Amino acid sequence: MPDYDPLSAVMVTDPYPTYSELRDSAPVFWSDRLDSWVLTRYEDCRAVLGDAANFASDWRRAGHESASTVMSMQALDPPDHTPIRRLFTTAFRDQDLDHIGDMALAETTELLEKFSTAEEFDFTAELARPVALSAVCRLLGVDIPPVADFAAQSDALVHGMDAGLRPEVLEPAMAARKEINELIAGWHHATRGPGLLTQVLAGAAQAGVSEGEIWNSSRVLFLAGFSTTVGAAANAVLALLERPEALERLRDPKLLETGVDELLRFDSPVQGTTRACVRRTTIGDVTVERGQLVLMLFGAANRDPAQFASPDELVLDRSPNRHLSLGWGPHACSGAMLARIIIRALVTGLIRAPRPPRLAGPPVRETRATLRYPDRLPVTFRTAGS
Ligand code: HEM
Repeated sequence: MPDYDPLSAVMVTDPYPTYSELRDSAPVFWSDRLDSWVLTRYEDCRAVLGDAANFASDWRRAGHESASTVMSMQALDPPDHTPIRRLFTTAFRDQDLDHIGDMALAETTELLEKFSTAEEFDFTAELARPVALSAVCRLLGVDIPPVADFAAQSDALVHGMDAGLRPEVLEPAMAARKEINELIAGWHHATRGPGLLTQVLAGAAQAGVSEGEIWNSSRVLFLAGFSTTVGAAANAVLALLERPEALERLRDPKLLETGVDELLRFDSPVQGTTRACVRRTTIGDVTVERGQLVLMLFGAANRDPAQFASPDELVLDRSPNRHLSLGWGPHACSGAMLARIIIRALVTGLIRAPRPPRLAGPPVRETRATLRYPDRLPVTFRTAGS
C-alpha cells in the first residue's frame, strides 16, 4: 500500500512524478490515511464517474448519513438529480455568456493597464479573483460582494474540504460558511436582476424541484464556480509564464480555442472527487465493498499516457482532449462553458498587454489537498533588471 500523502510538501509542489509512479505500481490502492480507495488511471476514473448506479454522489445510497436533509444538485444521483440538473443547464444556456465574457475581458484589460507600470502584481488575488467573482455574480444576477472578504471566506471553505486530514481547518471553515450563508440569505430578499438565479427559482415548481434544493445548488455553484475558476486561471497562467513561446502562440484564435482545454488538462485545479460505493463492485482486480469511498485523482488521470500522447507536455492543439478536469458523466461541470470563457478572457488580456508578462518571483502554494493552484502568483511587465 503506497504511503500517499496529498498534503506532503512534494505533492503540494509537484504531484505529477508521484502520480506517474502510482499509475504504474498501484493504479487502484487503499489509503488508510484517506479511508478510501484511490484511482489514478484515466479509464478507471472515467468508468466510475460514468457509473452513478454503482458509485454514488448521494452517499445515503451507500448507507452513509447525510448532514443535511435538503440536498443540492451535486449530492443527488439520477433520477433525483435529473430535473434539477436540467433546470440549471437550461438556465445556463439561456444566459448571455458572451456578454459575461466581454465584461470579463474589459475588466481584465482595465486591471492590467493599472498594473502595467507596477513593480509586480499578484495574478491570483488581484486579477483572477475579481474577474471570476464578477463573472459568476453576473451569471447569477446578484450584487458583487467585496472581493477580498469573499475570497477569504471562500479560501477558508476550500481549506475545510481537507478537514479529514487537517482537523484544525474545520472551525474557520464553519465560521466562513456562516458568513457566506448570511450573504446568500440576503439574496432571498434583494431585488434580483435577470440572471440564472431568477430563472431557476421561477422554474422550480414546474420542474418538481424544492426551493431549498435550488438555494443549496446555487450556493454550490457560486462557491465552486469561483474557487475552481480562480485556481484554473492561476494554473493556466503559471504554465504560460513558464513557457513564454506558448503564450505567444495563443495569439492564434484556433490555438486559443483548444489551448484552454489543454491548460485545464495539464494542471487541473480540482485534484479529485469522491464517490461512495452502492454495491460490491470490482475495479480492475480490486473489490470495492458497499459503503467504501473511491477517490479519483484527476491530476493523475489527465497525465495517463494510455489516454494522452506526450502527457507531460503542453500540446496547445491537442484534439480530442477528453480530460477530467471538469468532471465526466452525470455530474460533469455545469459551468464548463463559463469557466472556459473566463479563462479565455484572462489569457487574452495578457496576450494583448503592451509588453509580455513575466514571472516576478516564485509562486506560493498553501498546503491543500482538494484544490491545487498558486495562491500567490507574482507577475510583472517590466523587463528583467529594469
Ligand atoms: C475551470 C473552472 C472549473 C473547474 C475546474 C470545475 C470543475 C468541476 C468538476 C470537476 C465538477 C464535477 C465534480 C464531481 O463530479 O464530483 C464540477 C461540477 C460542477 N461545477 Fe464546476 N468547475 C469549474 C467552474 C465552474 C463554474 C464557473 C461554475 C458555475 C458558475 C461551476 C459549477 C458547477 C456545478 C453546479 C457542478 C455540479 C454539477 C452536478 O453535480 O451536476 N463550475 N465542476
